[in-house]
Amino acid sequence: MTDSAAPPPHDPAGTDHPEPTTEPTTEPTTEPTTEPTTEPTSIAVLGAGIMGAAMARNLAQAGLDVRIWNRTRAKAAPLAADGIRVVDSPADAVTGAGVVLTVLHDGQATADVVAEAAGAFAPDAVWLQCTTAGLAGLDRLVALATEHGLTLVDAPVLGTRQPAEAGMLTVLVAGPEETRGRLAPVLAAIGSRVIWLGATPGAATRLKLVCNSWVLAITHGTAEALALAHGLGVDSAAFLEAIAGGPLDVGYLRTKAAAIEAGDLAPSFAVDTALKDARLIVDAGERAGVRLDVAAAGLDRLARASAQGHGGQDMAASYYASFSDGPPAG
Ligand SMILES: NC(=O)c1ccc[n+]([C@@H]2O[C@H](COP(=O)([O-])OP(=O)(O)OC[C@H]3O[C@@H](n4cnc5c(N)ncnc54)[C@H](OP(=O)(O)O)[C@@H]3O)[C@@H](O)[C@H]2O)c1
Repeated sequence: MTDSAAPPPHDPAGTDHPEPTTEPTTEPTTEPTTEPTTEPTSIAVLGAGIMGAAMARNLAQAGLDVRIWNRTRAKAAPLAADGIRVVDSPADAVTGAGVVLTVLHDGQATADVVAEAAGAFAPDAVWLQCTTAGLAGLDRLVALATEHGLTLVDAPVLGTRQPAEAGMLTVLVAGPEETRGRLAPVLAAIGSRVIWLGATPGAATRLKLVCNSWVLAITHGTAEALALAHGLGVDSAAFLEAIAGGPLDVGYLRTKAAAIEAGDLAPSFAVDTALKDARLIVDAGERAGVRLDVAAAGLDRLARASAQGHGGQDMAASYYASFSDGPPAG
């Protein structure tokens, strides 16, 4: 899956791929110089949602110089206490940044924001694109990068709020080989695992869609099993006990079941974000000529949960989509 020149997955900093040395030489050179125009350690983060805020904090804690922009400034404001500069526009954020990290709702929002800031990108800046954008979204972003001469690295992430806060994301990366050195400290700060998938944007987005199809399937499977238990008068604890310790017992099931049982649906991955991803997965299946019945049904559940008013809650609220008369009592 990984390319042959890639650092192994447990080499998050890519330390066996050091940046080519830039030590000054006393020898005159006739080669045209391509001196960097930015500090590689200055990072612009565009987006201060669940993922962006957590990633920015970890970048700052790693000693990088972080500036952040968010459409709703008030959501980014608390990050000032972490030594992060909160700025008023995407252009302010990217000016002078060596790495620009986008982590916005979808491909369209990312395209709009980057288009607004494109003229302010430094010539040597690397655009680390972490929004889950899907196939069509990434195509749009690649076109935008080409139009403005930006260096785009396709870098969606696996993991949710807690891994993001802990700097333990898995980052799927596809982009030019020469960006590896510059990205190493950034990837090491946000992730515990980096999987390089070659030099061409797209491979990481495709793998991300496959991974998310599994995440959504297991979420809906959990939600429906608990809903059926409720409908049949089966204690959900009896279900969990019956599968305990066997191959059907999965950590993710436990986490989402506990959230449903407790009615604690503070979002790690919100219904409306998952709905966006379900659409990306269904679209990818259609493009590939692959029937994805479960993904399509899951999309319907998320749309129903959102219509019921659960859009901002965790996607475990898929549970409520099983009940047409609102949340079950007890
Ligand atoms: N949460 C997860 O578990 C998870 C895991 C892996 C990947 N992801 C992906 O990471 C990305 C961010 O997810 P999240 O959970 O952090 O979402 P979130 O908390 O909902 O944050 C979304 C961000 O996008 C911004 N945004 C939305 N629409 C915009 C627009 N039209 N123009 C400009 N900014 C806009 C929001 O700004 P406002 O604050 O102004 O609304 C916010 O900064 C998504 O692509 C998601 O699929 C999420």
